Parts: sequence; structure tokens; C-alpha cells
Amino acid sequence: MLDYPQVALEFMNRDHQEFVSLRDKLLGLLARAPTDTDALDVLLGDLQEHTRHHFAEEEGRMLAAQFPPYPMHKGEHDRVLASMAAQVESWARERDTAALKHWLEKEIGDWFVNHVNTMDFITAAFIASRS
Ligand SMILES: [Fe+2]
Repeated sequence: MLDYPQVALEFMNRDHQEFVSLRDKLLGLLARAPTDTDALDVLLGDLQEHTRHHFAEEEGRMLAAQFPPYPMHKGEHDRVLASMAAQVESWARERDTAALKHWLEKEIGDWFVNHVNTMDFITAAFIASRS
């Protein structure tokens, strides 16, 4: 269970909920044997697509609201998308379920909670106060 706060913009809360549910589904698949690599590939694609779309929407809203720390938040999004792409590539190459599980549980889980608590929380409050 990931423990993260609600932020001041509803679309962000909805997207965060969807992110958590995609991650849960991936971990659910990883807990099953034999490993359904096809289903994992599809869901990982969904997670990447969802994340790209969500980040782009946040970035559009930050630009529209002239959010001063935009470059910092955008830089963090770019870093995460790159590391997600690298992880999906290495999964496709190695089919290492333990590595994929560790990444989802630890790296993605920790990153998500930290990101929502800090950048997303502040960004949403700023944008909501101006709209
Ligand atoms: Fe964000």
C-alpha cells in the first residue's frame, strides 16, 4: 500500500490513483507463476503511456500558470521517463522478474510517494490558487 496525500487538483488525484492501480496490477502479475510476460509487457506499456500523458498535462498546466519552478519539476519528469524507458528495455532484454519487482516496489514506489508529497503537492496548490 502506498501512502500519499491528495493534492489540490482533481485531475492529478485521479491520475495518481490510476498510476497506483497500474503498479498494483503489475505487482499482482509478478506474484503469479508462471510469469505472463505478454501481459506484463502490455501493462508496462500502459504505465509508460499513462505517465507520459500525466506528466504532459501537469507541464501544460504549470506553463499556463507560469509556475516559477517549472524547469525543476519538468526536469524530474524527464528523468523519470528516461529511467522508466531504460527499465522497460532491460526487462524486455533480460526478463528478470526479480529486478522488475524490485524496481516497482522500491524505486517506483518510493519515487511516487516522494514526488506527490513534494513537487506535485506544491505545484497543485500553486495552480489551484491561481485558477
Ligand atoms: Fe509531477
